[in-house]
Amino acid sequence: MNNFRFWSPTEFVFGKNTVKNVGTLLKKYGATNVLIHYGGASAIKSGLLCEVENILQNEFINYVKLGGVQPNPLDTMVYKGIELCRKENVDFILAIGGGSVIDSAKAIAAGTPYSGDFWNFFQGKVTINKALPVATVLTIPAAGSEGSPNMVILKEKEKLKKGHGNPLLRPVFSIMDPELTYTLPANQTAYGIADMMAHVMERYFTQTCDVETSDRLCEAILLAVIHEAPIVIDDPCNYSARANLMWASTLAHNGVCGMGREEDWATHGLEHELSALYGVAHGAGLAVMFPAWMQYVYTSGIDRFVQFATRVWGIEETGDKKETALKGIQALKDFFVSIGLPVNFEQLGAKKDDIDKLISTLQINSGGTLGNFRKLDMTDARAIYEIAAK
Ligand code: NZQ
Ligand code: ZN
Repeated sequence: MNNFRFWSPTEFVFGKNTVKNVGTLLKKYGATNVLIHYGGASAIKSGLLCEVENILQNEFINYVKLGGVQPNPLDTMVYKGIELCRKENVDFILAIGGGSVIDSAKAIAAGTPYSGDFWNFFQGKVTINKALPVATVLTIPAAGSEGSPNMVILKEKEKLKKGHGNPLLRPVFSIMDPELTYTLPANQTAYGIADMMAHVMERYFTQTCDVETSDRLCEAILLAVIHEAPIVIDDPCNYSARANLMWASTLAHNGVCGMGREEDWATHGLEHELSALYGVAHGAGLAVMFPAWMQYVYTSGIDRFVQFATRVWGIEETGDKKETALKGIQALKDFFVSIGLPVNFEQLGAKKDDIDKLISTLQINSGGTLGNFRKLDMTDARAIYEIAAK
């Protein structure tokens, strides 16, 4: 196991009716002038936005609002938010929504006190050394941004989707009420499931030895998600299943699963080009790319793939490692299909003819190499896209 530091300061307030604590929590963390940031329609339709506004008014906390964040959040919204925060002297950002809203909030939080272009952070030109505090009311378990230091923003003009992280961007608190996720349609629920599983698998597939504790932690989260997924697809208002998935999404990506081990992240790199080019949901792209990546790299660490097949999917070892590993990959694919996820380019709406375009933006974003389980160059990336396109 490698040396590590783990710092996860977010206060998670989890369970039914926890939104009612939002005023107290904002005061506890020093908010006096809040930007409420939200998405397209769901928070308005469900009454959640109105509920939060009423609480803030009753607690005499000033606020301004900025809605309209779209999935795969845009740089143009971030610029708008930065301008508003400066004009209104905002000192705290409350994100109501999922990964897209939270990431947009994080980018605004980092960009507001910085005099240059916030995109400089994403290009690695400057380090974030100051940010407004961010908190969340989570409405979709998926990206794990409610507990992560990361943000992913799409630069609209260039179609460049890029991630960046800094510990200052970990939310100070996150309110997680599973009942808020009852309104999620089946497809969004499934995209979230694929994303949280991907966050675990990006860490699980490592060449680092002697990491039994985090191996078992990863497997436990995957097993719980695999158990709860069909329940929630059949019965969207099943509290227990919604609650378990919601907590799983946070544990999958707050960093704990990756401690002491080298992480991979090639599949996320490959996927971001798909959501940038086609506007598809991140989780849908991952469902297509993860099995394809696995098929390409499994011989570079076959024992780990055998472990994945036997411990996560209950596949019996036949003595033929290759056969067992491939059965594990097929089991993952079958599971994705069973909850309505796409598993190839055609089902995603992607085109084989666009692989050159995907590679050209991937080259810019990755600098030409990605992943750790097996180091990949652009020839490898092309081969993986071709597997997904079959
Ligand atoms: O915009 P509204 O109307 O709110 O609708 C949203 C959106 O269309 C809807 N939704 C959310 N909560 C709902 C709901 N609909 C009904 N009922 C509810 N309770 O769901 C749609 C998707 O929302 P979005 O926020 O885009 O989903 P998600 O949480 O999957 O976030 C995806 C973004 O996160 C990034 C992805 O790349 C993508 O841009 N990621 C961020 C990470 C991070 N910050 O650590 C890590 C991830 O790997 C990921 O890359
Ligand atoms: Zn993800």
